[in-house]
Amino acid sequence: MASRGEFSSRTAFILAASGSAIGLGNIWGFPIQVASNGGGAFVFTYIILTFLLAYPVLMAELIIGRHAKTDTVSSILAVSSGKSKGLAYLTGYWGILTASLILSFYSIIAGWMIAHFLGSVAEMFGNLELKQWLTEFSLMRNLVFCGLFYFLTISIVSSGVTAGIERWSTRLMPMLLVLMVVLIGYIATQEGAAEGWRIYLQPDFSRVLNPDLVIDALGQAFFSLSLGVGTMMIYGSYVSKSENLPKLGAGVAIIDIGVAVLAGLLVIPAMYVALHNGVTIFDDAGNLMASDNLIFTVLPALFETMGSAGLVVSILFFSLMTTAALTSSISMLEVPVAYASESLDLGRTKAAWSVGLAVLAISFVIIFNFSSLFGLVVAFTTKYSEPLVGLLFCIFVGWIWRRDQILAEIKLGSPDAENGLFWKIWPNYVKFVCPLLVILLFWHSLS
Ligand code: TRP
Repeated sequence: MASRGEFSSRTAFILAASGSAIGLGNIWGFPIQVASNGGGAFVFTYIILTFLLAYPVLMAELIIGRHAKTDTVSSILAVSSGKSKGLAYLTGYWGILTASLILSFYSIIAGWMIAHFLGSVAEMFGNLELKQWLTEFSLMRNLVFCGLFYFLTISIVSSGVTAGIERWSTRLMPMLLVLMVVLIGYIATQEGAAEGWRIYLQPDFSRVLNPDLVIDALGQAFFSLSLGVGTMMIYGSYVSKSENLPKLGAGVAIIDIGVAVLAGLLVIPAMYVALHNGVTIFDDAGNLMASDNLIFTVLPALFETMGSAGLVVSILFFSLMTTAALTSSISMLEVPVAYASESLDLGRTKAAWSVGLAVLAISFVIIFNFSSLFGLVVAFTTKYSEPLVGLLFCIFVGWIWRRDQILAEIKLGSPDAENGLFWKIWPNYVKFVCPLLVILLFWHSLS
């Protein structure tokens, strides 16, 4: 077996795992979900579900991963016994498939980020024709920039997780945060923003239990924390045995929620500023128009109000978005690549390129059939597959893996864990409450 990498420090892990968690899901997806689900009610339900369901599943993944220290299929096998081996294969492969399908749509959106970044550069050089091509939806543009994004993702993954992933996450993520805070400050000075703040921050409590909203919020919570495919299991497998896992996991969850909430604080008021300035955002029935395009409509409109500084801000924003997308996409590709390189013994570079190009082919199929396939793949993977695989992870930790072994694993980095709050609540919680909640939510939304 090839020698495995390990994160060089606690900060490196937090940054890499947050780098995986923070991405288009927070900044592109979350505001769209908020806007199409009536504002604050969605924010409220999403935060509650992150604590109630996503954090416990995150812990299940991290603990299994660090225990087994191998790819996801072998990791789940390592915590199963005779009878449950079949289920272990099913869970592992289903996760690999889901990770690959998520990458296949994610890279299309990420390609748009690169195109918008280059669009602003083109504008700076006065080439408006090029800018228009770069920022308008077209088959050719989508193919080119999706392909380019794969090239970047595969290159980083082939150089290995700790070398490739750490370097990117540690430098650029903090910059994105600073830029967002500055932009939130700016938007507060604009006419129309107050209406956006109100809609975002005032939940309409009669809607928080709406079944569609709850399923969307559940999907968002899982997607945003990169759960239900094995990404966090893999990242857990690169954590040193001396780390306190429950604390690390809580840190990542809080950072991820924080960034999503900040992104909403930027995009939702920006929507209402744009509306105030005459940009059409809702159709006559009050539904969001072209929701995929929300931030590509609203933010450039905002940047334009900033005069010549707007161009610089736009370049900065879209380049940081591309980076945020990359630190996430590498964590998706890592799932099938770890399997190919460790269980199939393929060698990391070969594994990264062959798996990467295969998933690229899926992306191209989606691009050629965008209107019929894109939404379908998003819904299948994020709304259904991720929570269901997450449920299976809970079954393994709650019902199959021996509890004394779980405790021993946690104790490696936190010798006093037995007496802590986490150990008092979590084991029975993932055993009974999490599976029940997921099943209940599905049953409720399907009936
Ligand atoms: N969490 C990332 C985001 O919000 C996306 C992501 C990375 C992901 N790895 C994942 C989603 C694994 C699901 C599964 O953009």
